[in-house]
Amino acid sequence: MAKVVREHIIRALAKGGFISGQNLGDQLNISRTAISKHIKTLTEMGLDIYSVTGKGYKLSQSLNLLSNSKIINALPKGSTAPEIEVHSIIDSTNSYLLRRLPNQLSQGQVCLAEYQSTGRGRRGRQWISPFGSQIYLSMYWYLEQGLSAAMGLSLVTALAVSDAVFSLTNIQVQLKWPNDVYLGGAKLAGILIDLDGQALEPSHSVIGIGLNLNMPAQAAKKIDQKWTDLQSHSQRQIDRNILSAQLIYHLLKRLQQHQEGGLTAMLDEWHDRDLYLNKPVKLLTGERTTQGICRGVNSQGALLLEVNGQVKPIYGGEVSLRGDE
Ligand code: ATP
Ligand code: BTN
Repeated sequence: MAKVVREHIIRALAKGGFISGQNLGDQLNISRTAISKHIKTLTEMGLDIYSVTGKGYKLSQSLNLLSNSKIINALPKGSTAPEIEVHSIIDSTNSYLLRRLPNQLSQGQVCLAEYQSTGRGRRGRQWISPFGSQIYLSMYWYLEQGLSAAMGLSLVTALAVSDAVFSLTNIQVQLKWPNDVYLGGAKLAGILIDLDGQALEPSHSVIGIGLNLNMPAQAAKKIDQKWTDLQSHSQRQIDRNILSAQLIYHLLKRLQQHQEGGLTAMLDEWHDRDLYLNKPVKLLTGERTTQGICRGVNSQGALLLEVNGQVKPIYGGEVSLRGDE
């Protein structure tokens, strides 16, 4: 119920201009006091709403809301559009697609949201997801060859994010194994892969991308690492629907390339964009820290870490990579 009310208020505000609490209350059959509580919650969700006595509520800046038809129209001519759902308020776009497994999804199906109440990072960490200013996108991808084909999905996705950003802005981002996209030494985007299935049987994957576009000041205070957003690096206004379309197009293209030929043909591109290639790094595994030199990645998506002159493949899981200058 609260979700329906809040979505109604957002649509009313998105039209621009002032709308009074009384008017909103009449439309929704609730009191002005209840409206004012919902407005407070919307502000906490990242919407910049102000009020003027006698006039009502107004957005400080117009919203560039996501739209299914605008995204489909922005896909390159001749490309096949997957099924795309746009949600206003959701718990997590990855969790939403996972709940629809195994029968209610089509290959490449996309879920986008304006706001995530419980956006997830790796290992149960939180992904800060304010309303209407960033990108939260998940795609369903069926893995015919089983979970072994899932190795490397986060690298494939990171390459797709980098392709999409480059095609739109000419900006070359950097990639940090296994799942992060960096720009100017700070985190621009994160990738979360959820898997469901058995090693040797056809399996399901949900690929999630969180990309910072316009980070609101309030949300920024909640992030405990160096972050950046794409708009700060571009003179031109970046349209969220066009950026979403580019992400979908490049992700589908990379996933098909991966399905047909694995990671091998993409390794050079990864190494060109590798944040730590040939640099000292430390690998954090629980309490343990291993120092070494990053020698890139192999065709299975493993990190190649040189320790005491020997290069060892490190497969994903509970590990984090950090620079060690
Ligand atoms: P690693 O994957 O190497 O462990 P990481 O510290 O980036 O690196 P992740 O699990 O990938 O960890 O990402 C989750 C972390 O990202 C959170 O703990 C938080 O510090 C940070 N974070 C949350 N929301 C955002 C955001 N919108 N932009 C940038 N960083 C964020
Ligand atoms: C990370 O860096 O740890 C991964 C962050 C992934 C965030 C995205 S936002 C869309 C999708 N839905 C989620 O709950 N998480 C991913």
